[in-house]
Amino acid sequence: MSPVLKPALDMSVNVAGIELKNPVMAASGSFGYGVEFEDVVTLHRLGGFVVKGLSREPMAGHPPPRLFETAAGMLNAIGLQNVGVRAFLEEKLPLLNNIKNIVFFCNVFGHSQEEYEDVVRILNDGEGIAAYELNVSCPNTKCGGISFGSDPRMLFAVVSAVKKIATRPLIVKLSPNVTSIPEVARAAEEAGADAISLVNTFMAMAIDAETRKPRIANVTAGLSGPAIKPIAVRMVYDAAHAVKIPVIGMGGISTAADVVEFMLAGATAVQIGTASYWDPCATEKIVDELQQWCKDHSVARLADFIGGMILE
Ligand SMILES: Cc1cc2nc3c(=O)[nH]c(=O)nc-3n(C[C@H](O)[C@H](O)[C@H](O)COP(=O)(O)O)c2cc1C
Repeated sequence: MSPVLKPALDMSVNVAGIELKNPVMAASGSFGYGVEFEDVVTLHRLGGFVVKGLSREPMAGHPPPRLFETAAGMLNAIGLQNVGVRAFLEEKLPLLNNIKNIVFFCNVFGHSQEEYEDVVRILNDGEGIAAYELNVSCPNTKCGGISFGSDPRMLFAVVSAVKKIATRPLIVKLSPNVTSIPEVARAAEEAGADAISLVNTFMAMAIDAETRKPRIANVTAGLSGPAIKPIAVRMVYDAAHAVKIPVIGMGGISTAADVVEFMLAGATAVQIGTASYWDPCATEKIVDELQQWCKDHSVARLADFIGGMILE
């Protein structure tokens, strides 16, 4: 009698035409330019990773203190420190292209629509980049500092302008600091986004009662980590019901069950940010854990979980 063959586990997902071997990605801002993690994480085991947000010119970021740990979360006001898009192409991209079998996205931001367009135009010349992730949480300096992502009309304008230029799939990363997630998700889709990702950090702050000073030099900061997870799951669920394009979910993920939870809410893939701050190996460990979770639950194809929440 021939042995009963168990079906092989398929953890792959497809986001905007990009094949990921599993849905677990490292989020922008928690993984440097990827190369810094080469010694601690087997990069090709991840579904992919997103590099730190890139601007047209290098940025020094905000003064310290820039990080503060809160109950089940973290506040940050790094101020989008980065080497600038040209230095990325010259110094980081060749190193990334030496690593085999990896998928990475470039996270892009600007303080004006032109700046977003310029960064993408420059990145178009780089090799090996799978997609662009547009961070629209940045304040538009021309419009009095209101963030691109909080006004659906401004969001539509910047996404459609960048879409015309981009030679790669365009993922729009939504801010959670809005009244209606479906409204901004639809604006991104109508402007031509190939996928959306959410959530970025929540506007927050903390004050030291003893010194009466803010915990973060910038006073306000972004909250991330497990504290935001239930809100992020709800927002991913709302977004996934508002658009037809794929949704990449994130916000407080630290276990394989968290990944499954976001997929059940409608995410095709997920990103992990803050967990890498308390354990630099978190992303790869979650891939291992997810593989085990699928075996324990006799899952043959992980993609079947996308939007699979059972209501009755
Ligand atoms: C220190 C830090 C820096 C970040 N930098 C960026 C960035 O450059 N661009 C961006 O789109 N998101 C950035 N984020 C947001 C994360 O990518 C992610 O959306 C958010 O932290 C929620 O996920 P998490 O709870 O798993 O961290 C940053 C987050 C942290 C904590």
